[in-house]
Amino acid sequence: MNNQPIGVFDSGLGGLTVVRALQRHLPNETIIYFGDTARVPYGTKSTQTVLQFAEQDCHFLLRFNPKMVIVACNTASAAALTELYSRVPVPLLGVIEPGATEAVRHARGRTVAVLATESTVASGAYPRAIANLSPDTPVIQQRCPSLVPLIEEGRGADDPILQMLLREYLEDVRLLRPAVVVLGCTHYPLIGEAVAKLMPDAQVVDSADATARQARQMLAEADALSGVSGKGRLRCYVSDNPQRFREIGGRFLGHPIRDVTWVTPEQFFNESLLLASGEEEEAV
Ligand code: DGL
Repeated sequence: MNNQPIGVFDSGLGGLTVVRALQRHLPNETIIYFGDTARVPYGTKSTQTVLQFAEQDCHFLLRFNPKMVIVACNTASAAALTELYSRVPVPLLGVIEPGATEAVRHARGRTVAVLATESTVASGAYPRAIANLSPDTPVIQQRCPSLVPLIEEGRGADDPILQMLLREYLEDVRLLRPAVVVLGCTHYPLIGEAVAKLMPDAQVVDSADATARQARQMLAEADALSGVSGKGRLRCYVSDNPQRFREIGGRFLGHPIRDVTWVTPEQFFNESLLLASGEEEEAV
């Protein structure tokens, strides 16, 4: 039993889809979420930059003494997870490997299509993870750069502009008739239905759900599940604009968010400033 919190970070508010899945699979756990809303998006940035940001995000979360850190951002998982293993002294879980495992399970050797940001596609992290599990499974990737801003704008699965764009992104993918489509970005679970409608013969895999199930398994195996029964707390920290995070984040989380704190650059980079407020002790 371990009542320390789970740390979760993302480039912004998209990682709340992973928190939503965590709350479903691990309802007793306290979650400390960091959204790097000042530096989002990560999906168009270079690997070196994303690695640097991801390491800083992890170190911010370490102030809360987490029992594990989940890299909820696909782009950060793709660019940084391997490096982070040697730089962060707590168990880490990214979203790529759980999503790939779930995809391979459904595909049974048939083609897997991965939809993701430009950086995730360029990293080749999903094809590599799938090849590690099943070397003969064909993988195609499609970058969908305009989906993130449209989804944040509030356009959902039934929005005509979003559907038109998705149809264009999926044009070549559909010709290859994949058996599985992986939603390889934090935002895409919100439009999973639109993807499923355009590709009715494919199994749509949500990395967020697969990650939450793997987190539960890791904690159970380490005998580190929370012993507190009842509703686990969620406390969010953001590097900019807590108001926007609160307003839009509720759609990603599935219910309103109350507890959002703005972390100034000074507080983010200088541990003693946030410690002075006593926030960390209270959160743990
Ligand atoms: N969170 C990012 C991901 O899952 C999407 C948003 C961004 O580009 O930062 O890849």
